Amino acid sequence: MSQPIVIDHPLIQHKLTIMRKKETPPSLFRELLREISFLLGYEVTRHLRLHNIDIETPVAKTSKPTLAGRRMCIHSILRAGDGLMKGLLDLNPTAKVGHIGLYRSHEDLHAVEYYFKVPPHLDERFNLVVDPMLATGNSAIAALDRIKQAGAKDITFLCLLCAPEGVKALNNAHPDVPIYTASIDERLNEKSYIVPGLGDAGDRIFGTL
Ligand code: URA
Repeated sequence: MSQPIVIDHPLIQHKLTIMRKKETPPSLFRELLREISFLLGYEVTRHLRLHNIDIETPVAKTSKPTLAGRRMCIHSILRAGDGLMKGLLDLNPTAKVGHIGLYRSHEDLHAVEYYFKVPPHLDERFNLVVDPMLATGNSAIAALDRIKQAGAKDITFLCLLCAPEGVKALNNAHPDVPIYTASIDERLNEKSYIVPGLGDAGDRIFGTL
């Protein structure tokens, strides 16, 4: 199994601990998620390609680097993925955005699609698929299946927390997709929540507890 890339920057870990606390209110939870997603996004986009363009400063003509190719696409797995969007768009305001709506079936927890809208030319973009929690991996696998069907090739998955079970499932289904995270937690519980985790990320972002 290829291990996720864990971004263990002290500021990220500090903010994440505050998010885990059950008494942290949605307003603070959202703000910390925005800050962390900006910091995680900085690491995830390290490999973006550059090419030189000719420019003129007030002092001299020069050739300097700028992002090459089509803009990256950030794909949010609804609804909790939207919690990462603000920070990632603050970091990269010209990124395109895709939305993938999936819910977990109550019977067997498999992912059911209810919405799919992505920009064109996914095959020429860096595709970053985001969801705060990688638990069973079912939603992530379904989302990656779907954007691959739509043409995406260069894909990375970004989450805040993951469980070893989800990492294994995602690696098996999509071994070509690297996983970035701020923490690999202990395990899933009998309700498929990450332990110790932070609870239901969507509920904590939107105050629907
Ligand atoms: N989704 C969540 O929001 N939290 C978990 O712990 C697992 C899946």
